[in-house]
Amino acid sequence: LHIIHIAVEMAPIAKVGGLGDVVTSLSRAVQDLNHNVDIILPKYDCLNLSNIKDLQCQRNYFWGGTEIKVWHGKVEGLSVYFLEPQNGFFQVGCVYGRGNDAERFGFFCHAALEFLLQSGFHPDIIHCHDWSSAPVAWLFKDTYTSYGLSKAKVVFTIHNLEFGAHFIGKAMQYADKATTVSPTYSREVAGNPAVAPHLHKFHGIINGIDPDIWDPYNDNFIPVSYTSENVVEGKKASKEALQQKLGLRKVDLPLVGIITRLTHQKGIHLIKHAIWHTLERGGQVVLLGSAPDPRIQNDFVNLANELHSSHNDRARLCLSYDEPLSHLIYAGADFILVPSIFEPCGLTQLTAMRYGSIPVVRKTGGLYDTVFDVDNDKDRAQAQGLETNGFSFDGADTGGVDYALNRAISAWYNGRDWFNALCKSVMEQDWSWNRPALDYLELYHAARKAK
Ligand code: ADP
Ligand code: GLC
Repeated sequence: LHIIHIAVEMAPIAKVGGLGDVVTSLSRAVQDLNHNVDIILPKYDCLNLSNIKDLQCQRNYFWGGTEIKVWHGKVEGLSVYFLEPQNGFFQVGCVYGRGNDAERFGFFCHAALEFLLQSGFHPDIIHCHDWSSAPVAWLFKDTYTSYGLSKAKVVFTIHNLEFGAHFIGKAMQYADKATTVSPTYSREVAGNPAVAPHLHKFHGIINGIDPDIWDPYNDNFIPVSYTSENVVEGKKASKEALQQKLGLRKVDLPLVGIITRLTHQKGIHLIKHAIWHTLERGGQVVLLGSAPDPRIQNDFVNLANELHSSHNDRARLCLSYDEPLSHLIYAGADFILVPSIFEPCGLTQLTAMRYGSIPVVRKTGGLYDTVFDVDNDKDRAQAQGLETNGFSFDGADTGGVDYALNRAISAWYNGRDWFNALCKSVMEQDWSWNRPALDYLELYHAARKAK
């Protein structure tokens, strides 16, 4: 098949969150199965050019009264077309956050379809993502099916229904097939007016992570290479490097890591509570997070100052976006906490497991589908052919977090052999795209048969 993704994020060159990871890693997995994949992305001025190979301007065309330059390059082995409209739409800022995002991305979607048409592409599947490339679905059906692109079918994936539900509803209507990023989230949003009329073509497929991009055996950002065979030594060295880097006391205490966008989705009040609770229980905490909302950012700056005076040797809040540091935290933490209020899939719990860190999560969306509580979910794990792999809680109150964290921290203190075996076992679970990529291929084939 020939699949073209039209998207506004792509890791590692223009990543804001998990959408960027998924565009890259799903594409690589499908390409590895011998399909032909291209990605179309805006050419932001902020693109991380060192990660683009053979970048060159190939041609230009005119659309919407504007000249658009088409660049081509390779990112993580994938063919990427970058559209650079000369109207300055993508020249300031990075990805989101300008007042006219809807206008800019609407323009990009239209320009991308025009590029496909004018360049004589005949893809089998056009795959678009979230509100930002949702317009592709209806523009295509409105206008482009009658042109040369008619063979293509449109697949639309909802990564987060919180943003742009109006756009999402329109794309749901026009897409041939639609997905969201976990089975549980697909049930959670089934009653949403943007989704409900379209359940017949809606599927929940869990995300994977790319095991080559996230690989503790081959990771320049951590001090030693490790696999499940030497996970204890690998994580010990990583914890020490993390403590050293952040100026924390170099003692072996249970270390809880949190890597997140700081937004209400991620359970801000639960995160704050968990920081204090971990400290009360004698642990260390490292939070890496950035808040798009300045009020939340301020709140965490204040918390960081408070912790600086009271617990400087055991808590560190790093309020920025920092890819290298995220790798060291995944490797050096004992636990990765994800107390989200809702979570369509969530990738940090999966990456945590790849690095032998134990997820502690709230049971929602994809977190429910991927984390199986060691005390409560044996049957549910077994039904999936898996071992239990973490700690989880229900409810959105602080008692829930305490319930999960208390058990996690006690397990660390009281049963080191058991805990080390758990780290080894979670590392050996396969949360790659091996299985989900096949589900997507099945869906692509079904889309081709759709009328
Ligand atoms: P979401 O897309 O809702 O933010 P996901 O769990 O799907 O949540 O994906 C988040 C991605 O962004 C993960 O790859 C995670 O490692 C990364 N990430 C989140 N916050 C930061 C940060 N402050 N610095 C570096 N990476 C981060
Ligand atoms: C969204 C969701 C997150 C998901 C990611 C990738 O940002 O918030 O849960 O993992 O998209 O699909």
